[in-house]
Amino acid sequence: LVNEPDTDWAVPDNSAWIAETLNHWQRRCNDEATEVSLTINDELIVPTAQNLGQSLDPSRPDVVVCRYPRLTIDQVNASADIANRDPSGWHTKSPDEIHLTLRRAAQWLRLRRGELIGAMVAEGGKTVAEADPEVSEAIDFCEFYPLTARHWSKRAAVSPRGVVAVITPWNFPLAIPCGGVAAALSMGNRVLLKPASQSVLVASMLCEAFWDSGVPREALHLVPCDETVAEAGLVANRNVDSVILTGATSTAKRMLAVRPDLNLLAETGGKNATIVTAMADRELAIKHVIHSAFGHAGQKCSATSILLLEKEVFEDESFRETLADAVESLIVGSAWDLSTKVGPLISPPGKTLTRGLKTLEDDESWLVVPEHIVGNPNLYRPGVKWNVKPGSFSHMNEMFGPVLSVMSYSRLEEAIAIVKRTGYGLTSGLESLDEREIQIWKESTTAGNLYINRPTTGAIVLRQPFGGVGLSAYGPGIKAGGPHYVLTLAKIENKSHIP
Ligand code: SER
Repeated sequence: LVNEPDTDWAVPDNSAWIAETLNHWQRRCNDEATEVSLTINDELIVPTAQNLGQSLDPSRPDVVVCRYPRLTIDQVNASADIANRDPSGWHTKSPDEIHLTLRRAAQWLRLRRGELIGAMVAEGGKTVAEADPEVSEAIDFCEFYPLTARHWSKRAAVSPRGVVAVITPWNFPLAIPCGGVAAALSMGNRVLLKPASQSVLVASMLCEAFWDSGVPREALHLVPCDETVAEAGLVANRNVDSVILTGATSTAKRMLAVRPDLNLLAETGGKNATIVTAMADRELAIKHVIHSAFGHAGQKCSATSILLLEKEVFEDESFRETLADAVESLIVGSAWDLSTKVGPLISPPGKTLTRGLKTLEDDESWLVVPEHIVGNPNLYRPGVKWNVKPGSFSHMNEMFGPVLSVMSYSRLEEAIAIVKRTGYGLTSGLESLDEREIQIWKESTTAGNLYINRPTTGAIVLRQPFGGVGLSAYGPGIKAGGPHYVLTLAKIENKSHIP
């Protein structure tokens, strides 16, 4: 597999094309909201005053981007029933047929890159630079998972498990749903996609990609609904065999309490650190950390949220000034503006982030004070908190927003212990040019994805299978985007044939 390349924005035609695409999308959103309607058992379900759900433009929260129907429990149950009966016979398709179908979906996405970016800017508040790689990742999932399913089907007796509910967040509105759907379909399962309420338009475009490419509507259902309906209609529903969840640790725990027998594959967040030792290329480290901490305004489970500096670096005035200057120079604004580096939050900060953005504890101070930008409740200039102590609120809590906590340490072993103490283990970064340090860190760090001298975000399918340990994951611990992931969604008869 050759990974799908991102757009090269240095090519003038590409920047002209995206500017034109964004203009078109902005006009479209200004004119009227896009309406998503659904069909269950030949009944057309449209948004009405009773069932209305809507997504807003985080850059201009008074603009409604999409109106959709929030399904009732009966409608979700009906979808699950159809998926379980599978009148389309998707579960009988050969791995070759499935591969061909999903490759067509990949091509659909390829041909509509601009449209998809426009929708993610509109509905997700993602900058173009952040939305573009998501399209590449989604294409990679559609190419890669059916290929691995075909590979395994030649080596072992694998068959579909049944119905898979894919429950997804708003921060990667295309790639994460696409990954779950493509993996489940690859093994002949049927899918119920429950997207975040903030990103139903992008999810509906993704479903169009699969439906237009030959995935039957009976095998893939879009089920936008409230959390309580999802819990009763998807998690507790005996017609549902597996759930792929990207969400909170507490949500995963609740699901297992409702259905202890559930085949749950959950990715549940992170509190990720990048360690910068005295042996690092310090300016390059700043560049990587800023990218990891403030890309998509820090709203990534993979984001660096703790910066751990070896004492010598912590006391290096020039490092401190460069870090502060670089953060202060970031252009914060509307995601529609191509020069924006830090776009809006999806919605005004909740309790944890508000505390992270507003409160200092003990000896903490602000290296860069975060600042709300008047006129949009979602827009914040990033902040950097200095001298955060082990065990403090900022050390232990996932913020999911534009605030970075700087801590100091004396020995690498101490830094590794500080990182472990959070209980999470998703991504972890090290900035050092010293091979001995790299070795020690690699051997003793407990996290799913380890990154050396590069940002902690932006895992690439196949090259960096993605998934965590500890509080960051529930389930069999097989990483998304890796060769074994589809096997977690299959019944396998002769496991000994699988390396
Ligand atoms: N896969 C994304 C990343 O690596 C997070 O979901 O940033």
